[in-house]
Amino acid sequence: MGFQLDQYSQPLLKAVLGSLREGILVVDSQLDVVLYNKAAVSIFNLPAVMTGPVRLIDVSRNKTIHQGFRQVLEENKPFDAELEVFGKQERTFSFRATPLVVPPSEEVAGAIGVFFDVTQLLRLERVRREFFSNLSHELRTPLTSILVYVETLLNGALYDTENNLKFLNIVNKHATRMQNLVRDIADLSAIEAGELKLNAVEVDLRAFIENLGVLIASDLEECQVAFHQDIPPELTVYADPQALEQILMNLIINAVKFNRPGGSVSVTAKPEGDNRTRITVRDTGIGIEEEHLTRIFERLYRVDKSRSQEVGGTGLGLAIVKHLVLSHNGDISVQSTPGEGSEFRIRLPRKAIEA
Ligand SMILES: Nc1ncnc2c1ncn2[C@@H]1O[C@H](COP(=O)(O)OP(=O)(O)O)[C@@H](O)[C@H]1O
Ligand SMILES: [Mg+2]
Repeated sequence: MGFQLDQYSQPLLKAVLGSLREGILVVDSQLDVVLYNKAAVSIFNLPAVMTGPVRLIDVSRNKTIHQGFRQVLEENKPFDAELEVFGKQERTFSFRATPLVVPPSEEVAGAIGVFFDVTQLLRLERVRREFFSNLSHELRTPLTSILVYVETLLNGALYDTENNLKFLNIVNKHATRMQNLVRDIADLSAIEAGELKLNAVEVDLRAFIENLGVLIASDLEECQVAFHQDIPPELTVYADPQALEQILMNLIINAVKFNRPGGSVSVTAKPEGDNRTRITVRDTGIGIEEEHLTRIFERLYRVDKSRSQEVGGTGLGLAIVKHLVLSHNGDISVQSTPGEGSEFRIRLPRKAIEA
């Protein structure tokens, strides 16, 4: 390529290029690849050690790559493009080629191509966009209903003693749904932003769950579901009590609401290993089909939207649960048989680890 590296620059260059996450391909003016780095090896499936120049066409048949390098060589200007590529997994790269000019010559001796994998970035961007578009839909629906019923009341239905209370109840229901949604979003974004301060203490699980049982009494009655708990005495969980309540309440309320009349919910727990407590929330409800199992922890994901809305759900509960469990260094898993019921299992630390 018309220039040589001295004995110091060569290993330095190799080390620097080797440490980059971006794939680098250097071509000469004949479009032969004269240098590439480790990242490029895996992107283009190249031999790990370069034994001599390789033709660009043997590295990749991607038209944009060829066009980019050629344009840089001809016009002495950078070239940028997004590439949808290759191989087994579909990946997207941001590709930038720049002219390689080696002083003292002012001629373009070759071109440097940098391949930056943006697959993950684009995925996150898509998830974020979808979330906001779903969210505005979620807020708009109850708001529209509220406005329609309020308008109807204002237009005279206020004095229609047969319907006025019914309409107000509907307004109340939708407003409550909006309130729940706004509350869950605020929680979730605080958790995701890492703003949540967890003050973990050793919680006596049996008393804690007994207490929750009292809080859900009216839900149990409404859904005609029985509640059982079987927690060994003195079993503890090392967790922030407020977060623990949120985790368990979300799981238990789901187990109650996605149940059937005459069904039951049971919460059991036992110590596991050195310092873990395993809590299981089991129900005899509608269950969850395999294809939805991994997705129910995503924000706003619901198997049956109308059923969830009917029971005041927002689709954010399990996303919050998962985040909270993970921030306690715990984990969560689920098993389910459609038509028979589901089982959510969480593992949390048992005791404070002594320093
Ligand atoms: N115990 C359960 N049994 C059946 N389906 C469940 C259960 N828990 C959660 N799901 C499903 O997972 C979805 C997401 O749950 P969640 O995030 O708590 O949202 P929400 O309860 O607001 O609908 C629910 O809409 C429901 O389809
Ligand atoms: Mg829920």
